[in-house]
Amino acid sequence: MTETATRLAALREKMRQTETDLVALGPGSHMQWLVGFHPHADERPCLLLVSEAGECFLMPALNAEGSRENTDIAFHTWSDDERPDAALAAALGAIGADKAKSVVLDETMRADFALRLLGALPDAKHTFTGETVGALRMRKGESEFARLKTSAAVADRALQKAFAAIKPGMSEKELATVIRDHFASEGAIPLFTIVGSGPNGAFPHHQTGERKLAEGDAVVIDIGARKGGLPSDITRMAAVGRPPEGYGQVHTIVERAVEAALAAARPGVKAKEVDAPARRVISDAGYGEYFVHRTGHGLGIDGHEPPYITATSETVLEEGMVFSIEPGIYIPRRFGIRLEEIVILRADGPEIFSSLPRDLHVSGA
Ligand code: CO
Repeated sequence: MTETATRLAALREKMRQTETDLVALGPGSHMQWLVGFHPHADERPCLLLVSEAGECFLMPALNAEGSRENTDIAFHTWSDDERPDAALAAALGAIGADKAKSVVLDETMRADFALRLLGALPDAKHTFTGETVGALRMRKGESEFARLKTSAAVADRALQKAFAAIKPGMSEKELATVIRDHFASEGAIPLFTIVGSGPNGAFPHHQTGERKLAEGDAVVIDIGARKGGLPSDITRMAAVGRPPEGYGQVHTIVERAVEAALAAARPGVKAKEVDAPARRVISDAGYGEYFVHRTGHGLGIDGHEPPYITATSETVLEEGMVFSIEPGIYIPRRFGIRLEEIVILRADGPEIFSSLPRDLHVSGA
């Protein structure tokens, strides 16, 4: 069976369990996961429609020939000088979905695509993909694991390049360029390169800027790039010379929070039961108000995807799920510390992708 056939079968099983008549995906990550590609995404309505009876595309005519190289699923095409309504009606009819009562919509599709589809199915109620495509995407196969691991190794090397390059007087942007250049040298497409130096590190999603690194700065380096279609995401800490007053103690607390979450992550445990021990370590140390985000997020085709490791998530973690563990402490006007691992959940616990230690890397002095 091809990967697409396996995934379509698994999706139909979820559709039966959730009494879903139709799944409609736009050109994006869900479609990429299901059929291994997606046509060019623009304002032209383009949908992959899946029912119990079959699957087909509503396809802009100009993308048909190119898409045919990637799939043998039937197309219902429409051209720029007509409206897509007739092709959409034909597509729904062809897979017996023209009377669909319950529709799962790709939450990332354009609102006008979604409204057009719901307009063609006036009796349908809709939900999003959480219990169908989303649930399936959380568990990774060994081939996805291998590709994610390759991507993670590139990020490890990019971080090591950054550590080696750090020196006083260099700007955050210049350090980010070293990282991006390394990604490019390994054929990876940079997704984000957060360099938060000194007080900027206290902004979890700092916009890497012109601030120059100075002696005594702690530097948050959070980077990711797409290699072989799959992203990386890792955060480590560096210091320019001696770290700031009080740094070491806070780093140790964040490290203990990472270890507590790693120790709690097991198949069968709820996501909130992984967030809780990390949060407890930080709260018990008196820094609870400075841990301003969830403990982690899933990683797959998208850099952020389910499962989300939050204080309230009831999602039960399963073997094969890939997610981050990245607690942080952000002290306004002083420094921030985040340590991030990506893990795959194995039967006996998490396996970490990165081979880099989480210690502070002291550079440039
Ligand atoms: Co992350």
